[in-house]
Order: sequence, then structure tokens, then C-alpha cells
Amino acid sequence: MDLHTALGPLQLRNPLIMASGTFGYGWEFRDFLDYSRLGGVIAKTVTIRPRKGNPPPRTCETACGVLNSIGLPNGGIDEFLRVGLPYLSRLDTCRIASIAGETVDEFVEMARRISNQGGADAIEVNISCPNVKKGGMAFGADAPATEQVTRAVRAVCAVPVIVKLTPNVTSIGEIAAAAQAGGADIISAVNTFLGMAVSWPDARPMLGNIVGGLSGPAIKPLALRNVWEVARSVDIPVMGVGGIVTGADVLEFMTVGARAVQIGTASLVEPTAMERILSEMVAELDEHGFSSAEQALGRFKPSQGPSCCR
Ligand SMILES: Cc1cc2nc3c(=O)[nH]c(=O)nc-3n(C[C@H](O)[C@H](O)[C@H](O)COP(=O)(O)O)c2cc1C
Repeated sequence: MDLHTALGPLQLRNPLIMASGTFGYGWEFRDFLDYSRLGGVIAKTVTIRPRKGNPPPRTCETACGVLNSIGLPNGGIDEFLRVGLPYLSRLDTCRIASIAGETVDEFVEMARRISNQGGADAIEVNISCPNVKKGGMAFGADAPATEQVTRAVRAVCAVPVIVKLTPNVTSIGEIAAAAQAGGADIISAVNTFLGMAVSWPDARPMLGNIVGGLSGPAIKPLALRNVWEVARSVDIPVMGVGGIVTGADVLEFMTVGARAVQIGTASLVEPTAMERILSEMVAELDEHGFSSAEQALGRFKPSQGPSCCR
């Protein structure tokens, strides 16, 4: 089976990429995963200064999903360049760094320094974190701000720029188009959906931050709809993310236009999930007579009416 996928300028071994925030900078999963079997990895989002993150509890299980309000704890860009990026750069797969700023200047400074140091094959611009007070979703919820930050980062980056979108907006297609106008090479859709959990007997929130972002299988239909809308709104490649836990899930996202997918929560529950999902995807393709992953791309035929098979 030919699993190779071209994601704009990036050539991936297969379409499966580890999502940001769910495997640190690589060493946390080194005993569980053979990175050379993955299409790529996206490091935990880094910020300009070290961050402690949000008050605990930071996660809460919900039906078929998990709410998190981690709040981007990390050691800051200096530590990332000294420790995280050198480790990431040794992994035998496509290595992607992730940045989040409170201002355009912060995004630009981090992108420039990562690009200058080398070791990352692309930079994901996280304008979609629902769990931080400044920056976070503020850029990703506004089309002109999305275009501005994308253009500024693009101007200082020698590697492809990926813009990661939030689904917590009225029209994700408009935001995706703004990222494309700003020069994004690739779009990632989507980050988590804002949600909350409450204990009714004592009338208190389950998360220290009160609200958090929902991920896992619960969000798959929502993410799939967002990815389809994004894929119809731009000409650049799209990565689908949200609730993927099986090989069939991957192929659903590819059918509606994602050239690659990211997997997050599944790896928290099952550290070897990526390898299982890859095997399942190959078996599914084989069973249905496909000889390559790229044959599954963008085949969606809504005009032919609803399907009667699952
Ligand atoms: C615990 C946790 C931490 C996350 N941290 C980040 C992060 O640092 N940067 C980011 O862009 N997305 C982060 N995300 C969002 C994921 O990358 C992904 O977009 C989202 O969880 C949906 O995919 P999933 O359902 O496969 O987990 C985080 C998600 C979880 C569950």
C-alpha cells in the first residue's frame, strides 16, 4: 500500500500526525512509539515566556471525550530552542514546531528564531487555544487578525507555515480564507470546542479554569463538518483533526478533503494508538480496493444523496 502523502511542500510517509499538546516534545512517547512509522509530529505549543498553565484540575472526562484547560504550560522559547527543538529535530519523521503569542510581534519573534535555528520542517501557528486569557483564540476568531499574523509569520519563516484554526467561530471558512490570503501554506482544523462540566450537588465547576476545550470521539462529527467547510473555502492543503480514533475515521476526514490528519486524545488513552490506527487504515483501504492513501482524497459526493452503508 502506498501511504505517501504530499501536504503542500511537505512530503509525508503517511497521513498520520501526532497532534500538538498530546505528546510533549517527543521524549514522553519514546518508549511507546516508533516515530519512523508516523507521518509527522507536532510539538507542544511554545510561548515567548515560560507559563505555569491554568489552576488544577486541568482535565475532566466527559461522555466520549475529555475537557482540558491546560493553559499552555511550557518553559518558554529559550528552553524550547535549547532542549525541545534539538530533541524534536532528531526524530525520524516530519517535525513541526507550534507557537502561540499574545501579540503579532511575539509570534514573529518565535517563528524567526525557530526558523533560524533549523530542525523543524514546518511551524504551526496556534491561533486557536481556548484556554488562555491573552492571545489564544483572539487571533483565530477574527479574519483580519488571522491574515495579519499569518502574513507577519510567513515573512520571517524559511519553512512552511501551518495555521491552526479554532472551531469556536461563526464562519470557519472565512477565517481559513484569511489565513490563505496571509500566505499560509497549510491549514489545520480544528482545535478543541469550548465546553464545561459542573458538579450539580455542590454547584461547582469540574475544571479550575471553569471552562475548557472538548476533544476526543465526542467532537468527531463537529470537526468533520468544520474540515469540509475549510476544504471548500481554500486552495491550500488542509489537515483534519478532532476525535479520530480509528482507521475509518482517518479516511472519513480524507474523503471530505483533508490531505493528512492529526491525532491527539486517542494517544492519551492508548499510547500506541497511532500505530493501530495506521494498520486499520491500511486494512480499510485494502478491503475497498484502494492501492494508495491519496486515492481516498476528496472523493466526497454529496450530490449523489445519502449513503445506505456504514
Ligand atoms: C491535553 C491536551 C492538550 C492540548 N494542547 C494543545 C497545544 O498545546 N497546542 C495546540 O495547538 N493544540 C492543543 N490541543 C488540541 C489538540 O492538538 C487537538 O487539536 C484537539 O485535541 C482535537 O483533536 P483530538 O480529538 O484528536 O484530541 C490539546 C489537546 C489536549 C487534549
